[in-house]
Amino acid sequence: MKVLNELSENNLEIIKTEIKSDNLVIFPTETVYGIGANALSEDAVNKIFLVKERARNNPLIVHLKDKEEITKYAKVNNSVEQKLIDSFMPGPFTLILEKKDNIPTNVTANLDTVGIRIPINEIAHKFLEYVEVPIAAPSANISSRPSGTKVSDIKDEFDNLVDYIIDGGESKIGLESTVVKVIDNTPVILRPGFITKEDIENVVGNCLVSENVLKEIDDKSKAESPGMLYRHYAPKTKCLLVYSNDTNKLKELIESNLGDKTIILGSSKLSDTSCYKFINYGDTLEDISHNIFSLLRKCDTYDANLIIIEGVEKVGLGLAIMNRLIRTSNFNYQEILK
Ligand code: TXA
Ligand code: MG
Repeated sequence: MKVLNELSENNLEIIKTEIKSDNLVIFPTETVYGIGANALSEDAVNKIFLVKERARNNPLIVHLKDKEEITKYAKVNNSVEQKLIDSFMPGPFTLILEKKDNIPTNVTANLDTVGIRIPINEIAHKFLEYVEVPIAAPSANISSRPSGTKVSDIKDEFDNLVDYIIDGGESKIGLESTVVKVIDNTPVILRPGFITKEDIENVVGNCLVSENVLKEIDDKSKAESPGMLYRHYAPKTKCLLVYSNDTNKLKELIESNLGDKTIILGSSKLSDTSCYKFINYGDTLEDISHNIFSLLRKCDTYDANLIIIEGVEKVGLGLAIMNRLIRTSNFNYQEILK
């Protein structure tokens, strides 16, 4: 894999040629890195599914350079959708809209809807502008693994599978976009992210959160967002997620699960716990979000047999963090509330 450190005219030409030849290019966004292909080419999109080992029934998000492009590929059917576009695009936000026929069916896994996102990251924008086609892109990770948020993590995973990656440094947010679908005129969060339920309520008054956000899906045919079906964001080492709003109870919970080779991944308040290895994931929700995926990968380098991860309160950005960590832990979750 070749790392492109800047978007010079020469590099932009290389990338454009790759995309026009139905090849894949990994690019940075403000959320996580994406593996991009020409969204209008069924063959190019097929390569994403192959390289990522992704289930064919899990649809991809289509990335556009600006809002004017939306109605070329999707229909905006009501004023709630329009308000969400006006308020949150460009940004870490994906809106599920009725698709138009020019988007191949493999992009959307045969659904009649398409996820549309306009990244605000400058490099992503330049890339999307230059290639002149919409870009289908999932997060840059092999399916089930933590999403890629920096080049060194991604390079290991895709080294012989993708030829070019554009280096944009560490992803600013570190968690994927908020995915929203408007159902009966009400926005429903299918996947929480940096744009929160509260942010959406401020704009359109009401916002629901899909019950699958923190729960395992029992009836798989009912999943609004197929991506929620799979084990996700996971290191190879077994994980346990623990949460308490009382620090002493949290420490008790950790003590009772601690083994001889246990990593603790959490905030500074746990730094004095005696364990095999303590890894500090930060003390604010923004820091945790920024650091978490890369640190989960790092945990696999310590020959541990358990990672105990400190959970956070499930509000605001905390909901997005817990949505990922509960899947990281394969729903292995313990909580004591005071
Ligand atoms: O921040 C992001 O969204 C990143 C960057 C690269 O843009 N992309 C990303 O893509 O996270 P991916 O493929 O890892 O996750 C897309 C999620 C999946 O949960 C998928 O099921 C859902 O969006 N999705 C996509 N199209 C959908 C649709 N038409 N209806 C319902 N859910 C959809
Ligand atoms: Mg993903």
